[in-house]
Amino acid sequence: MGETSLYPILPTFEKHALVNSMQYQEMYARSLRDPKNFWGGQADKLTWFKRYDEILTGGFKNLDAVWFPGGKLNACYNCLDRHLAAKGNQAALIWEGDSPDESKTITYHALYQEVCQLANALKKLHIKKGDAVAIYMPMIPEAVAAMLACARIGAVHTVVFGGFSSDALLMRMKETKCQVVITANAGMRGGKVIPLKHHVDEALEKETSVHHVIVVKRTEHVVAWQENRDHWYHEMIATESMQCPCDMMDSQDALFVLYTSGSTGKPKGILHTLAGYLVYVAVTYQYVFDYHENDIYWCTADMGWITGHSYTVYGPLCNGATTVIFEGVPHFPTPSRFWEIIDKHQVNVFYTAPTAIRALRREGDTWVTLTQRHSLRLLGSVGEPINPDVWEWYYRVVGDNRCPIVDTWWQTETGGILISPLPGATPLKPGSATRPFFGVVPEVVDDQGNAMPEGQMGKLVIKQPWPGMMQGIYGDRDRFVNDYFKAIPGCYFTGDDAKRDSDGYFWITGRNDDVIKVSGHRIGTGEIESAFIEHPAVSEVGVVAVPHAIKGESIYAFVTLKEHMLPSEKLKKELIQQVRHSIGAIATPDYIQWAEALPKTRSGKIMRRLLRKIANNDAAELGDTSTLADPQVINDLLSHRIAIL
Ligand code: WTA
Repeated sequence: MGETSLYPILPTFEKHALVNSMQYQEMYARSLRDPKNFWGGQADKLTWFKRYDEILTGGFKNLDAVWFPGGKLNACYNCLDRHLAAKGNQAALIWEGDSPDESKTITYHALYQEVCQLANALKKLHIKKGDAVAIYMPMIPEAVAAMLACARIGAVHTVVFGGFSSDALLMRMKETKCQVVITANAGMRGGKVIPLKHHVDEALEKETSVHHVIVVKRTEHVVAWQENRDHWYHEMIATESMQCPCDMMDSQDALFVLYTSGSTGKPKGILHTLAGYLVYVAVTYQYVFDYHENDIYWCTADMGWITGHSYTVYGPLCNGATTVIFEGVPHFPTPSRFWEIIDKHQVNVFYTAPTAIRALRREGDTWVTLTQRHSLRLLGSVGEPINPDVWEWYYRVVGDNRCPIVDTWWQTETGGILISPLPGATPLKPGSATRPFFGVVPEVVDDQGNAMPEGQMGKLVIKQPWPGMMQGIYGDRDRFVNDYFKAIPGCYFTGDDAKRDSDGYFWITGRNDDVIKVSGHRIGTGEIESAFIEHPAVSEVGVVAVPHAIKGESIYAFVTLKEHMLPSEKLKKELIQQVRHSIGAIATPDYIQWAEALPKTRSGKIMRRLLRKIANNDAAELGDTSTLADPQVINDLLSHRIAIL
C-alpha cells in the first residue's frame, strides 16, 4: 500500500467541516468505550414523543439487540413536521424530470400537506399500522410522499425498484401480504416509457392480497383500468384533509421491508425498524456528507434500493436538507446531463455509483468540462469498489481537485454507511473506503474468525451492534441467523472480502459469496439460475460473474439443455427473455455458453468455483479438480468458452 497516493484533508474542510481528525479520533474512541452514551447523545438529534427507557439492550451473543426500547417517535414527523416552523418554505425536494425541461421544487410545507392527504387516503382504504404497502414508482416526488405517508400512519413500505419485472413485484407483494400498491401509469427513463401500471396489472392477474392500486398520472399514456380497484392518486388526495396525526410508534416497530439478493434462494426481505435505523441514517448523513444548513444534496440512487431509502429520503430529510431526485439516466439527452443538473440546481454534495462514473468517463472529459460545477463541495461513491483510476478522474475532472470523495461502504442490511472517510477528518486513498464510522468495529478475519495480519485479505466482519442494523429477514428468523451470524459466531458476517493496511484503512474488494453487482445492482446468481430453469428447454445452469469495464461485473451463464433440445440463436434470445421476465432487465446475461455438462462433485453439486475460472479464462488456476465426477467436462467447457469483451 506504500505507493498509494495519499490525498491530504483539504484546508477548507479542515477548517469548516463538522468533524476534524482530532475530533474523529476522540469521538470514535468514545463511541467504542461507551457506546450507549455516545448513541444516546446522537439520538437526541431526533424528536421523540416519549424518550426511550434504555439505549441498547441485548447484542450479538443472543441476537437480541434492541435500540432505544421504550421510545415513541415517528419517522415522518422527524422528516417533515419538526422542520415546518423554521423551514416550511425551504425546498425539501428538487425534482428533475427525465426531460431537461421538466423540474419542480417542493417545499417542506407542500410535501407535508401532500403526505398528510395521502396518509388520509390510505386510511380510507383501511390501511393501518403494521400493514404492508408496495411502492412501485418512477423517481418522482410522489414516491417520497408515498414512503412518508406510510411512515406517518405506521404502515410498512416495500419499495420495489421500477426496473423489476411483474413477477419480481408479485413475489414481493405476496410475501409481505400487501393490500395496496402505489404506482404510476408510466415512468420515463432516457426518453423511453416504462409501463409500470401495466406491470402491476400483470402481477395482479395472479392471486394476491392487493385490493387497491393508487396510480399517479405521470404522463398522458392511457392505461387499462379496473373500477373499484384502481384509483387516481390526484383524485384520491384532492378531497383529503391536509392534516393527519402521526402514529405514535414504538422504537422497534417496522419502518420498511426492502428485498435484496442473497447467495442462494429467493431475495430476502430485509426488515428495518424505526428508531435505530432513523438515528443511524440521520447521523451518518450529517457527518459523512458534512451537512451544513442550506446544502443542496443529490444522491442519484433509485428509491428502490437502500441508498435511495437512507440517503435520498430519510437521512437528508431528517436533517432538514434539500434533496434532489432525478427521474432519468446519466446519458440522456447527452452525457453532460449529471453535470448540467449540478449547475442547474447548484448542487453542493453529489453521491453516485462507480458504474455511472465509469460510463461517463468513457465519454471523454469535454462533457464534464463544458459545465461549471462551481457549487460542488463534496463527492461520494457507493455500491461497489471504485477503481483508483476512476477515483482519480472523479476527483480531478468532476471535482476540479477541490472536492473530497467519500467512498462509502455499506449494505442493505446495515441500514447506513459503516466505513467511509469523513471529509474533514480522513486523508483519502483512492480505492479505499478508509475508516469505520462511529461505533462500528470492523475486522478482517480468516474462516475461523482469527484476525488477519495487516495487508492480508480475509473476510470482513463487524464485531458490535450499531443502530442501523437490520432487525431481521421478513418471516425468516432462521435465514437471518444462518446467513449473517453462523460463519463467525458473535460477529456480523458481511459477505465481503477485505484487507486492512498499516494505516488502519479498509480496502473492500467485493463479495465472497454468489452475490454479484451488475452496474451496482445486487443480484444473486442463484436467482438468475432459477429464472433460466423455468424455461422448458433448460436442464441445468450455472451462472457466474465476469468483469466488465463499465458495469463492474456482468453475467455469464453455462446452460445445459434437456435431451433432444438443440442450441440456437433463437433459443438464446428466449432464455434472455425468460430472465428479463422473471427478474428484470438488470439481470440480462451478457454471455450464454451451451454446455454438454457442468462440472460437479461426486455428490452432484455444481462447482461454481470452476465455472468462474473457466469464464474468466483462468485455466491455469483451476486448482484441485480431483473431486470432480468427470474431469473431461472442464476441457469441453474451456474449448467452447466465449471470449469476454
Ligand atoms: C458492495 C449498497 C466496495 C459490497 C449500499 C456490499 C461496496 C454490497 C461499497 C452491498 C464500497 C457497497 N466499496 N464495495 N464503497 N459499497 N459495496 O446491499 O460488496 O446493494 O456487500 O448496498 O455492495 O450492496 P447493497
